[in-house]
Amino acid sequence: MATSPLRAEELERELEQLLGRDVFPPPQEFRARALVRDDTPWREAERDPVGWWERQARELLEWSEPWQRALDDSNPPFYRWFVGGRLNACYNALDRHVAAGRGDRVAFHWRGEEGEERAVTYAELLHDAERLATVLRERGIAPGDVVGIYLPMIPEVAVAMLACARIGAVHNVVFGGFSVEALRDRLHFSNAKALICADGARRKGRKVAVKAGVDRILDDLPALRTVICVRHTGEAAPMRPDRDLWWHEALRAAGPTPAEPFDAEHPLFVLYTSGSTAKPKGVLHTTGGYLTGVAWTPRHVFDLRDDDIYWCTADVGWVTGHSYIVYGPLLAGATSVMYEGAPDYPDKDVWWEICARYGVTIFYTAPTAIRTCMKWGPEYPLRHDLSALRLLGSVGEPINPKAWLWYWRVIGGGRCPIVDTWWQTETGHILIAPLPGVTPLKPGSATRPLPGIDAAVVDDAGREVEPGQQGYLVLRRPWPGMLRTLYKDPERFVETYFSRFGRETYFVGDAARRDEEGYFWVVGRVDDVVNVSGHRLSTAEVESAIVAHPKVAEAAVIGQADERTGQAICAFVTVEAGVEPDERLADEIRAGVAERIGKLARPARIIWANDLPKTRSGKIMRRLLRDIAEGRALGDVTTLRDPAVIEQLEAKVRELRAAERS
Ligand code: PRX
Repeated sequence: MATSPLRAEELERELEQLLGRDVFPPPQEFRARALVRDDTPWREAERDPVGWWERQARELLEWSEPWQRALDDSNPPFYRWFVGGRLNACYNALDRHVAAGRGDRVAFHWRGEEGEERAVTYAELLHDAERLATVLRERGIAPGDVVGIYLPMIPEVAVAMLACARIGAVHNVVFGGFSVEALRDRLHFSNAKALICADGARRKGRKVAVKAGVDRILDDLPALRTVICVRHTGEAAPMRPDRDLWWHEALRAAGPTPAEPFDAEHPLFVLYTSGSTAKPKGVLHTTGGYLTGVAWTPRHVFDLRDDDIYWCTADVGWVTGHSYIVYGPLLAGATSVMYEGAPDYPDKDVWWEICARYGVTIFYTAPTAIRTCMKWGPEYPLRHDLSALRLLGSVGEPINPKAWLWYWRVIGGGRCPIVDTWWQTETGHILIAPLPGVTPLKPGSATRPLPGIDAAVVDDAGREVEPGQQGYLVLRRPWPGMLRTLYKDPERFVETYFSRFGRETYFVGDAARRDEEGYFWVVGRVDDVVNVSGHRLSTAEVESAIVAHPKVAEAAVIGQADERTGQAICAFVTVEAGVEPDERLADEIRAGVAERIGKLARPARIIWANDLPKTRSGKIMRRLLRDIAEGRALGDVTTLRDPAVIEQLEAKVRELRAAERS
């Protein structure tokens, strides 16, 4: 259904009409060319799920040695896939394409914040990865050692990850938006032996020193004996000769290291993500299974092929960047865009300018970004020619139908299927999503599980609920890309994911509904994890950053529904006796959170409480706090110790609302 160019004033009316439409079949033009046009993959995978994954692994990856056994499920939940097989992740992402004569193909059209451009080919990535591998090896990094990566969105981040994989080192990428203190914790938990960072980073025309900040934490990390620093912004970067190397100097001096095959179950990376407690979880992925999943999904969910220009706007510091900026696209030999900057610098049309400039055909972003663009207005995308786009993706949080329709109509011109992809750091790759040439779309639903995936919605007892009813999302069958454990914490792994419904059912942590047609509607988290702009944060982690302020007595953090960011952090704070809470204290609290975690975790709202609602046994009743913050009628209050607490908080929230309105 391609439609004519859009006039802003007509849009509102048109979207109103679209809101009444529940189902969007795959657009004709797209369907005619799609890689998958019928339900064969589902049928084949249902007949023999393990055999089906084996076929994908064989067809999409190059193995140095074949596996003897596809799945070892003798000790759930510690599954092993492609047992005995050997391969190298970097070889599959780079060498293989260069060896096939595709070295000159652009892997990344990199775009810097100030408009700089670099086209980086597969041969160039390989050249650098081969040399960085040598440097790491010479610094004593052995297979299984962890290397921290704390870099902005520059091609070096992909080189760094792949160089680790080349020598069997395990990378631990930490999002550049996390503070150095958060970096320190993660590198400490993973016992990292080396760190790759940059001299500085840029954000909307400002530069910040990174290496100088990193130096502050290195004394706390005795195992970390090597820092490799990329020259990026020219910020002063103090170098300690016995520990620190400049990337460009080290690479210039190094020769190449060949890719060494590793066991399919050799760890590929650890990525820390938030859980119910303040301590982040080190999600561990291994090689053969993870690569199979991230090689399969781009072709089938994004319909990715050779002539596409693909752009995923995530940051490599999150799993989306690992799977769908680095491993997935590079395994496919795709050409991608990588963008360093913000969506509104130098102006709010920069994303669309980039799409037009490189002829982006597949665009993958988060609902929060779409809602922000909606707020800015359609005039920004309308300034540019977006006619090359043929598929749009969404990830990270539920997408509300209004944002879905805007995306469909304004960005996609009504001709691009929208693939709403549900997955997690733990799942490694997309698990619930449409196959765009086949699946009719319903705005707000990630549609159906991919072939080979067995998802269900169950009640407290683990029984499947009736269609339309809400319950817990679970996965009942192992899949190759699933996490293998939590780094150095197998007990927490079992306890978090495989205790609630037994050792063979993966507990996702999301609430969901499944409709009569088997479509999944993910509602949100059921644990104390908040999803702000698609970023996963733990309420406990934010609380502990808040109570670190000497004037704060207690804090309870909840995720509050927010039109733009999905959820926003709302903190109920009590202060020490004699302290008068004011805006200055609120600012100090926010600054403290930024320092301990990162700016993304700063509370949008701080509500001063005389006391927090607790049960008689002293447990904070977050459920009530959520109701209060969102102005809902309170649920069951019978276990509350002191009902007066609630009245004070409700009055505060009313006051705050009135102030926000005016
Ligand atoms: O609650 C779900 C939500 O994000 C969580 C996973 O977060 P993270 O591990 O940081 O990975 C984000 C990128 C894959 C899930 O438990 N989520 C992710 N995608 C969707 C989603 N919720 C609804 N719809 C989605 N498409």
